Amino acid sequence: MSSEDMYLLYHGLRVPKETHSLESLKFAEDFTFKDDDVVAVTYPKAGTIWMQEILPLVLNGGDLKPIQSIPNWDRVPWLEEKRLSVVVDQLESPRAMVTHFPYHLMPPSFHTSKAKVIYVMRNPKDIMVSSYFFHQMAVFLEDPGTFDEFMEKFLEGRVMFGKWTDHVKGWRHTDLGDRIMYITYEEMVQDLPAALRRISDFLDRNLSEEAIQKIAEYCSFKTMKSNNMSNFSLVPKIYMDSDKSPFLRKGVAGDWKNHFSSEQLARCTSVIRKELEGESFSLPWSLD
Ligand code: A3P
Repeated sequence: MSSEDMYLLYHGLRVPKETHSLESLKFAEDFTFKDDDVVAVTYPKAGTIWMQEILPLVLNGGDLKPIQSIPNWDRVPWLEEKRLSVVVDQLESPRAMVTHFPYHLMPPSFHTSKAKVIYVMRNPKDIMVSSYFFHQMAVFLEDPGTFDEFMEKFLEGRVMFGKWTDHVKGWRHTDLGDRIMYITYEEMVQDLPAALRRISDFLDRNLSEEAIQKIAEYCSFKTMKSNNMSNFSLVPKIYMDSDKSPFLRKGVAGDWKNHFSSEQLARCTSVIRKELEGESFSLPWSLD
């Protein structure tokens, strides 16, 4: 199938038709944010479902019920996807959501509310690898072709939600002040309890060390991989074929080293460097 069959174009951004519709995008535009809402913002493959596990537990002090009884997509729904309108009335306050939207597409009520934002960044080289495997297993996404071909598409932004550099630039230059915190996937991999303490402080939760350790255990890669409410095993194989690649694939930082040739590394580094030239922020990892 061609790209037009699989994606809707929304303000120039490709979004998968399987999970998005004109109605769901309109629902997002008209969505009314509440002051105590919390939104995790990610470019796809930067750690979205990880936040769908972490946020309910941090917000409720470690009660396992939501992560053990509600599938991730209904528990912490995507702002822009079809499921939000179905489950919105069942979300408990404070509500947690995720979005892949770039900053400039966030709805008006988001800007006037006091909703807090956690922006999760991940090394774009690892995002590329994770996304490459995801495109192989997710039947509703365009066939990625070879890794070389996929890399070109990724660098040109001909993938869902556009260019990684645009996403990061938009979310690094906001007027959200202390409503936004930045965290990296790598930081979470390296020391999850420390990352959870930062998130908990940002959300004004006073979690005990015991609660932090418990949440870290349930949000580990291994535990999430065996949680049927979070590992996408509830999705029929005709949509997501885990035999091709599991959604929770490797869960590490630096897997790109197993997939990039030296030419690919040079190309990727030079394109991303050029696009971030003159930016006031620096990336938390070296691109080389
Ligand atoms: P890999 O493909 O590199 O393994 P998203 O949820 O944004 O689509 O991102 C998916 C990526 O996050 C996958 O990366 C997945 O394995 C990883 N991930 C999800 N939960 C994780 C966890 N608890 N620990 C480490 N990585 C996790």
